[in-house]
Amino acid sequence: MTAHVKMDAPDRRNRLDAMAQGVIGEPLDRSEGALKVSGKAVYAHEWPVEGLCHAVLVRAAISRGTVTRIDKAPVEAMDGVLAVIDDDRLLRNPAQGTANKAPVQGPRKIFYIGQPLAVVVAESFEQARHAAQQLVVETEAADAVLDPEAETLEHERPKGKQTSQGDLDQAMGAAAFSIDEVYRTPGHSSAPMEPHAAIASWDGDRLTVRASCQMLKYNRNELADALGIKPENVRILAPYVGGGFGSKLGIAHDAVAASIAARAVGRPVALALSRRQVFETTMRRSESRQRVRLAADAEGRLTGIGHAALVSQLPGEKFSEPVTQATHFLYAAKNREIVHEIVRLNLTCAGSVRAPGEAIGMTVLETAMDELAIKAGIDPVELRKRNIPETDPEGDKPFSSHMLASALDRGAKLFDWQRRNPVPRSTRDGEWLIGLGMSSAARVNMLAEAEAIVTLSAGGVRIESDMTDIGTGTYTVLAQVAAEMLGQPMQSVTTVLGDTDLPPGPGSGGSWGASSTGSAVFAACEDIRKCLAEKLGCVEEELTLKDGHAVTANRRVPLAELLADGPISVRGVIEPGKTSKEVRQSTFGAFFAEVAVNEVTAEVRVRRMLGVFAAGRILNAKTARSQCLGGMTFGIGMALTEELIHDPRTGAIVNRDFAEYHLPVNADVPQLEVDFLEERDPWASPIQAKGIGELGISGAAASINNAIFNACGVRVRDYPATLDKILAGL
Ligand code: MOS
Repeated sequence: MTAHVKMDAPDRRNRLDAMAQGVIGEPLDRSEGALKVSGKAVYAHEWPVEGLCHAVLVRAAISRGTVTRIDKAPVEAMDGVLAVIDDDRLLRNPAQGTANKAPVQGPRKIFYIGQPLAVVVAESFEQARHAAQQLVVETEAADAVLDPEAETLEHERPKGKQTSQGDLDQAMGAAAFSIDEVYRTPGHSSAPMEPHAAIASWDGDRLTVRASCQMLKYNRNELADALGIKPENVRILAPYVGGGFGSKLGIAHDAVAASIAARAVGRPVALALSRRQVFETTMRRSESRQRVRLAADAEGRLTGIGHAALVSQLPGEKFSEPVTQATHFLYAAKNREIVHEIVRLNLTCAGSVRAPGEAIGMTVLETAMDELAIKAGIDPVELRKRNIPETDPEGDKPFSSHMLASALDRGAKLFDWQRRNPVPRSTRDGEWLIGLGMSSAARVNMLAEAEAIVTLSAGGVRIESDMTDIGTGTYTVLAQVAAEMLGQPMQSVTTVLGDTDLPPGPGSGGSWGASSTGSAVFAACEDIRKCLAEKLGCVEEELTLKDGHAVTANRRVPLAELLADGPISVRGVIEPGKTSKEVRQSTFGAFFAEVAVNEVTAEVRVRRMLGVFAAGRILNAKTARSQCLGGMTFGIGMALTEELIHDPRTGAIVNRDFAEYHLPVNADVPQLEVDFLEERDPWASPIQAKGIGELGISGAAASINNAIFNACGVRVRDYPATLDKILAGL
């Protein structure tokens, strides 16, 4: 049986609220948590596979050029070496997650430092690594393009991303208050805890790859495309993934190379990237240059918004960081000029990293809004509230729901925002200057096509999908949806994920995983409930399911009895429909931060930080909160330390490990507070839930940067706000 739901109309029934089990929304622990902390959850590189050998990539050491010769023979003769492979399929950049085709970048051409050129296979990892280091690759270098702001570069403007409405120049000229500033954000690395790794094995023409991937449905097609084989012959297994942050949306080089190597040597091959290789070879977030123009009348009402973003990418790649994504709808203003430009560089492929677009676009827009608030002498919270649009300012669509004002009010109250003195340098604690700052949060909401099979049997419930859990809580949240709908205690629900032999899920990306897969599970459960009601001779709405029992009118029947003639199994399918076009859907929130800036050293300490978020129905208050804590922690990094640095002479990434690439650690992160607003968004999904994974970073860094200005009067427009930049202004 199949339950197919197309999201063509809002679902206002709030069915999950009418159920009796009482587990939906509860802050339940992760069902797989004990496996993970005890080391029993098996990650990609840990599978015990018989006859395994090991492969190590050999990569380009120049940013641009051609491979002229690879001297394979001496390495092939080394101890333990099974093969040295320089297949052209290794060189292509894998796809970005939802595309099936990888761009073809030409045989033997080098486009960036770290591009795979060959793979060495040996009995042991140590032999493979040693041999890979000995392989001589001769190349002919060409002039690389490394500076995104070089004046000679062509600026591409992709269609569909530009807005030109009214007359911004005129609005700027007539404004009572205005801002026209250029901001910069650096490149970032996804930096998942688990490096990319794959074990590939062939059985005839059938390939099985155990890998660390976010979106198996797409990854299977991408891997097939990269290898030139049929998708039906590819199986990917990824039951546990140690974080992806975008870098595992698309199939990565490790899986492609391991598959090619395993075919060549006729044995299973494991290939794990080193930390340095993850930095150089997988992908990066593009740096950005963003010019923001804001024009406001005497009351602080925006009359004009200009946001022009410049990002970079490798030649031939389709993706580019959608920096201005939220600027299109966040604030009202009649005159709008939104520009998105791309330059082509010889740097590692640019991809999606943690809220591509909003993470850096909202951060810059919200820094500019703070500057405008100060110029206009209007409280920053109030300024934002005055500019919330009634409908989508670029087309009059209604919003599915709009919780920005509520989030701002709630945050201001919880954070005691009224304590803030708007005059910089007015609050002090010894040699520390104290400041408060805030910013709005927004992230577009998306529903993705998803399938899951739910089976109710006398023994309990089983959920199956190729959906992944990348550390987000998918296992637990899906089980909560089914437990609630089918009246089961949590321990009676088994969730099986991460296997392309199972129904295709939406994957973990774009914050759509829980709401989309949860909707597929919900659709299946509704049909199972109908079957049960039929057996009992009642209507589904009158059926109460709780603790493995069905209750209707004055009867209470164990489900095991109703299922005596066999289990009920339904395939739930959710498909996005008209609601994704008829209304503008976004999640909203607000960040508030208190920082201390040392007047002598310019060191910044985040003392307190609050995030208030509205993301529709919260399916699990603990896993959702953890997502937001993670996002806010990224925000601290973006504001203060996180920065991918390329050597301007060679394009080499200088800080390619966790010692030099500064992500926030425990000592950098104070007690963070997360508050959710009660919301049901009927347009977003049949479970009224929206995406939450990326909202917590979308604008977060601005609250910290704005607090730095409030503390010490120094405005940093070049992220991150490192000591040198602040010290220069003190
Ligand atoms: Mo996300 S950056 O869509 O994994």
